[in-house]
Amino acid sequence: MTVQYSELIQPERVHGSLYTDPSIFAEELERIWYRTWVCVGHVSEVARPGDYVRKNVAAQDVIMTRSTDGEVGLLLNRCAHRGNLVCEDRRGNSSSFRCPYHGWTYRNTGELLGYPYNQGYGGKNKLELGLGRVPRVDTYQGFVFASFAAEGPTLKEHLGAAAGELDRLARLSPEGEVELTAGWLRHRAKANWKLLVENETDGYHPQFVHGSVFSVTGSPIGALYSDKSTAVTRDLGGGHSENDLRPEFRRAARPMGWFGTSEARVPDYVAKMRALHGEQAEEILIEGAPHVMVFPNLFIAEISVFTIQPTAVDETVQNVTAVQLKGAPEMNRRLLSQCVGSVGPAGMLLADDSEMYERNQRGMAARRPEWLDIRRGVGRERIDENGFRIGAANDETGMRGFWAHYRGLMEEGAAQ
Ligand code: FES
Ligand code: FE
Repeated sequence: MTVQYSELIQPERVHGSLYTDPSIFAEELERIWYRTWVCVGHVSEVARPGDYVRKNVAAQDVIMTRSTDGEVGLLLNRCAHRGNLVCEDRRGNSSSFRCPYHGWTYRNTGELLGYPYNQGYGGKNKLELGLGRVPRVDTYQGFVFASFAAEGPTLKEHLGAAAGELDRLARLSPEGEVELTAGWLRHRAKANWKLLVENETDGYHPQFVHGSVFSVTGSPIGALYSDKSTAVTRDLGGGHSENDLRPEFRRAARPMGWFGTSEARVPDYVAKMRALHGEQAEEILIEGAPHVMVFPNLFIAEISVFTIQPTAVDETVQNVTAVQLKGAPEMNRRLLSQCVGSVGPAGMLLADDSEMYERNQRGMAARRPEWLDIRRGVGRERIDENGFRIGAANDETGMRGFWAHYRGLMEEGAAQ
């Protein structure tokens, strides 16, 4: 039976089967994950020629490599002989990969170099085989994106207004570059990937889910999402959304206030930024880092970067690392410890959020009511000066933007 996405996704509600039906998940892989641009990592993870790291695009294992001529490429981690994973280590440096099963070897650009006992192949020492390659690879501000569609929108077109948020993050580095070199933590959640995406843009839950952490630590984060907050939720188009906390930071007008610190604590960094940006430095230091969900799987929560990787209809892996700013060692130590404290293995925020995604998934095993309600804030949305739809800090404006784009992709995919 063909799924009618226009029936399951309505402006103010979405159907529960979108999170639980394996056939919908299979269609999502084809129409979204193996078609649109998906973030896999960052060029700084493969800084030197020969460096490689294992990554994923949904269920597909890929190897991100840096070739001798400096190109970043994405190879599929599947031996051309009989399908074994050719690369086992999570990261390393090598000009070639050797499959452990029967010893076939490949250059780090994918060409087959050789195989043992070639008499079995009629003495031929070069079969026309090699590792698969992701058809399109592109980068923006060092973030590496993959698209399995040979044609389609460019990365720039896909990112649209979200590109400006990546620029805003990079601008916080005194050298204008972000580095993701702190290593990744992997959290597995028994929940559909869209529950994670929705949660990233949900400004309604922090006060409740993280209330105990905020009160114990005296954190002001909860207030940023309260009913009195001047922060906004913005639908950036293309399924991207942001929780724009800048109005609150501007009101407080404290350089480094966004980071929960003051300039006296990070004097070298602040001095470097002032020397570099002159008058504009104050605005940059006050406004801080973005809180943006880039469709479908890159989430930047100020100091932490997440990539979301669906592995089954009810299972998702969330990879997390700390933002590191090139040329700012003083900041980087703090960024790392704050990231680990909030979303690390014993982190205080992610453990609470994970509990919520998993409870959501379990809750939806019950079949009534059939719908999830996403109407919060519909009646008070407005269009900002740049033409984007915005809602209050705790409205579901971002979620509705996500679903509109999702529906478009799923319907287009059906038409092809
Ligand atoms: Fe890789 Fe046989 S499966 S060498
Ligand atoms: Fe949360």
